[in-house]
Amino acid sequence: MKKIIAIANDHVGIELKSCVIEHLKKKEFQVIDLGTNSTERTDYPQYGVLVANEVTTGKADLGILICGTGVGISLAANKVHGVRAVVCSDPYTAQLSKQHNDTNILAFGARVIGSEVAKMIIDCWLEARFEGGRHLTRVEQISAIENN
Ligand code: RB5
Repeated sequence: MKKIIAIANDHVGIELKSCVIEHLKKKEFQVIDLGTNSTERTDYPQYGVLVANEVTTGKADLGILICGTGVGISLAANKVHGVRAVVCSDPYTAQLSKQHNDTNILAFGARVIGSEVAKMIIDCWLEARFEGGRHLTRVEQISAIENN
């Protein structure tokens, strides 16, 4: 069964999000668009949390976040228990972040990368698989920090 991807962005990410959604739908992923779809200036933390909740409650398998740089919105998402969000500007980091860090949310910046690079990053991330083993031990160590 195709995966469900939750996606959200602030006002800076609207255009790039449309390209991303079109790309994901072509690949037959199911997409949950959590906004914003308004060009009115808004605050990114709420959108980071919307996607984070969707992923950690299992309503979506994975999440994608877009703001100007990808930084603010991923910082917000990473405050939610169980989230491992990564900001990527290159496909290699995206791939390794899944293979070694089991990232469940991918973020990028609409002011940093273009739509073609965004699509490459997404494809590498979605195709990669967590390798487990020694990486699982490390991911578990990260999770343990949340329980301190
Ligand atoms: C909005 O101007 C900008 O600060 C936001 O999109 C993002 O880049 C924050 O990290």
